[in-house]
Amino acid sequence: MSNAFKKPIVIAHRGASGYLPEHTLVSKAVAHAMGADFLEQDVVLTKDAVPIVLHDIYLESTTNVADIFPNRQQSDGHFYALDFDLDEIRRLSINERLIIDGNSSYTPVFENRFPYIENLFKIPTLREEVSMISGLNKSRGKTAGIYVELKSPKIHWEAGYDIADIVMSELMRSEYKPFGSPIYIQCFDDATLKYIKFDLKIEYSLIQLIGENIWEEDTCANYDELKSRAGLQGISDYADGIGPWIEQIFLGLNTSGEPIASDLVANAKEFNLLVHPYTFRKDELPRGIETFEQLLRFFLINQRVNGIFTDFPDLAINFIEKSQYD
Ligand code: G3P
Ligand code: CA
Repeated sequence: MSNAFKKPIVIAHRGASGYLPEHTLVSKAVAHAMGADFLEQDVVLTKDAVPIVLHDIYLESTTNVADIFPNRQQSDGHFYALDFDLDEIRRLSINERLIIDGNSSYTPVFENRFPYIENLFKIPTLREEVSMISGLNKSRGKTAGIYVELKSPKIHWEAGYDIADIVMSELMRSEYKPFGSPIYIQCFDDATLKYIKFDLKIEYSLIQLIGENIWEEDTCANYDELKSRAGLQGISDYADGIGPWIEQIFLGLNTSGEPIASDLVANAKEFNLLVHPYTFRKDELPRGIETFEQLLRFFLINQRVNGIFTDFPDLAINFIEKSQYD
């Protein structure tokens, strides 16, 4: 079978995180070796304003912070990365993501992934991670892109940190410069993307992430508006594409057992927006989807999205290779 449309990109979500703890350098190295087109970085700041690669603004779900720094949590029970300087962050080790139940028990979010092993992995700074990727680009003769998410700009701003400015300055010093380098900047907060584009005037490709209002993320973004036709038209004024949640596109099965699609992809394409949905996990399939291949088929063949965020980049790459894109 031949599909006469551009090959979609595979974005290694938090690295090859289906196989190794998320956002470890080794999970990025494995994703690079697998041939992922882009490697994702979620970025937050330390107390001394150093960008580190970490998904949560809290440390307790993926590190041993509660053991190393007992009593350093805030009144809401969270250990905020912003309350620790880099020297303190370096004393922590990363583990596979755990469900924190208040009883100090170790329950993994994904049961069949990498086991809980203490003191094996460290939190990388953004600079260290990009340096490693640049090294692999050279030694493998193959450039992987980077796909950087600014996490919780509002919380950083309220604490006195301009995460957008700090991270953009860091990236501009790397090999990933505007115009031609494979780099995307993603954010759930539309105001932050507009700030990068119109105030900082940084010419990176921007992706507007779209969540659900009921998630109550720490942003003023209104996702119901953003994913409407008028909202998408507005996004096209400042961004190159959208990163929607997969269940904003796959709505379930009809009575014949066939997938039902929303009009989000078609509407986004009308405004020339790329569509990079998240998150494709073989161990967390949407209700109604039975296999990872079925999920990939719906999004990549039926919906023809331009790329996907996946914890399992090797499986997506194999699927795309088998599908013989032009
Ligand atoms: O950035 C795309 C996707 O990663 C958004 O969700 O929570 O995994 O950062 P999250
Ligand atoms: Ca992300």
